[in-house]
Amino acid sequence: MEKNFKRTTVTAALPYANGPVHIGHLAGVYVPADIYVRYLRLKGKDVLFIGGSDEHGVPVTIRARKEGITVQQVVDRYHYLIKDSFEKFGISFDIYSRTTSDVHHKLASDFFKKLYDEDKFIKQTTEQFYDEETKEFLTDRNIRGECPRCHAADAYGDQCEKCGATLSPEELINPYNAVNGNPLVKKETSHWYLPLDQHQEWLEKWILEDHKEWRPNVYGQCKSWLDGGLKPRAVTRDLDWGIPVPVEGAEGKVLYVWFDAPIGYISNTKELCDAKPELGSWETWWKDPETRLVHFIGKDNIVFHCIVFPAMLKAHGDYILPDNVPSNEFLNLENDKISTSRNWAVWLNEYLVDMPERQDELRYVLTASAPETKDNNFMWKDYQDRVNNELVAIYGNFVNRALQLTQKYYDGVVPACGELTDYDKETLAEFADVKTKVESLLENFKFRDAQKEAMNLARIGNKYIADMEPWKVIKTDPERVKTIIYISLQLTANLAIAFEPFLPFSSARLREMICMDGVNWESLGSTELLPAGKQLGKPSLLYTKIEDEVIQAQLDKLEATKKANEAANYKANPIKETISFDDFQKLDIRVGTVLECERVPKMKKLLKFRIDDGLEQRTIVSGISAFYEPEQLVGKQVLFIANLAPRQFKNGLVSEGMILSAENYDGTLAVTTVEHEVKPGSQVL
Ligand code: MF3
Ligand code: ZN
Repeated sequence: MEKNFKRTTVTAALPYANGPVHIGHLAGVYVPADIYVRYLRLKGKDVLFIGGSDEHGVPVTIRARKEGITVQQVVDRYHYLIKDSFEKFGISFDIYSRTTSDVHHKLASDFFKKLYDEDKFIKQTTEQFYDEETKEFLTDRNIRGECPRCHAADAYGDQCEKCGATLSPEELINPYNAVNGNPLVKKETSHWYLPLDQHQEWLEKWILEDHKEWRPNVYGQCKSWLDGGLKPRAVTRDLDWGIPVPVEGAEGKVLYVWFDAPIGYISNTKELCDAKPELGSWETWWKDPETRLVHFIGKDNIVFHCIVFPAMLKAHGDYILPDNVPSNEFLNLENDKISTSRNWAVWLNEYLVDMPERQDELRYVLTASAPETKDNNFMWKDYQDRVNNELVAIYGNFVNRALQLTQKYYDGVVPACGELTDYDKETLAEFADVKTKVESLLENFKFRDAQKEAMNLARIGNKYIADMEPWKVIKTDPERVKTIIYISLQLTANLAIAFEPFLPFSSARLREMICMDGVNWESLGSTELLPAGKQLGKPSLLYTKIEDEVIQAQLDKLEATKKANEAANYKANPIKETISFDDFQKLDIRVGTVLECERVPKMKKLLKFRIDDGLEQRTIVSGISAFYEPEQLVGKQVLFIANLAPRQFKNGLVSEGMILSAENYDGTLAVTTVEHEVKPGSQVL
């Protein structure tokens, strides 16, 4: 913030309109962005908060195929569902539009055309797999075929799941279309590429030297991309869903979704400013060097926002570059990765039904355990604890006591403050600097700590009123109680301000109870917010306890999901046909002791084992490097097939057998072992 900016454009990643949004989205991107924007608005800054749905790309087309509806129907359904969820959670976008809008199609198309006309792209022709019946080029994952190594029938274009080999579609024997089984042919196709290599130099300086203040996870990812050397990236695709490439001879091609989507931020700003002239021209928000641009994103979006999009903006020439790109890590759910395909998530639209009027509770918990520096975990039990022990027992309890006592003793009128004791003074001094603290934390995107400061204020208040015991003092020294209540009410009013960016719904309710119109952020820390004689409104509980049953219901729901996933997994991998005992006897399964284990250069998925098989030593190669560190396995006893014909890998390496591993429902692998140590070479019968 060294530079003095006149205004701030804040964007939040445009979610794919291929499904509802979940707590991971909220925690990673939208809540922090909203806190930041609300804070800037309270500071009286000029700010626009831009959002929208990302409606192009392959994911929406896959969803349409799955559900048997058109792509337009898919994006319509989820765009409105997502928009509604955001609204209900108080994500205060100035606009939430979509990349299928006319404004966007035109702007993205013009953006491409300008770069094209100015020779900012390179054109390259490559051979790609093509389905002559459906007339489409296929992506790697949509191509299957026989594995050239282990001859499994259904390896993917990028990997064989049976032997772990990393493949390219070219290597598959008899490749076919994964969707319809059609055979594929090779066909030439041309695409435009953004030559990122030509941008390497300025990007290096701009990020690695000029933006050392970016979060370490963001800076680190950029550095590793830059250190690896940037390569040209295709910005067009052979697809029929998207923005047509506005160039002659490009029929059947559209802009790559990652080319058009970030331009969506600009289009949506234009749509907003065109509708509200008082905001000024959209161009001021994107081209004036006195505008500060901040992108809130999840960690899988870092390279696009820190390298690719800036390169596009620079190539275009008229635009400013982002000043910061606060990105979070991932949020897990109950110790498991959130997954749309496995339905492992807390969907916002379902939460709103299951937990009515508890948006602030979720906002609070997600910020309190935000994955700012490392992946974090959402646990329903933790949610309950935080709500009950922090929001209810501290913040809610304090405010309720202060307001109820004001009603009881003074008919809801703020009493006059008498002489201050040392304890009063200490208490007031304790929160005098909360404003500076919260501000500096928010300005450095430390939302977790900032919210903690606000909660600390509530803690101070709660302790104060509990220590002062006005309900006892009233019997002996009623004059003194006036001062205690006066101070408590000032603290209450401060809380309504401090929590506003974090918990907008309860802050609004609290303000109503204390008849405070508007929030004056600058007055945060003041001890004269509610003057003596002021009539307050009717108090009601700010938060209510969450009962065990409610949490149990959520856990049961997840348990049911797990069961359903297991059943589906079983259905997808049914028991194979019955074999005779003789067939079984042909397999020679034995126990081997791992003597050595190491990674294989250039073959990322593989680990190379040296095994004591009882007689001698043998080498076995296994595709499990993603799941184990080699040293974890040394000394372990594993089960392996001893009489499998040796197999040779591309680099000459020969595997003499196969180590048995169990594949978990999520594709992770666990090596099999014996329950207690046996002599190497022991047969498994
Ligand atoms: N739709 C992308 C995702 O969910 C994010 C797009 S962000 C934008 O990962 F910049 F491209 F808009
Ligand atoms: Zn294979």
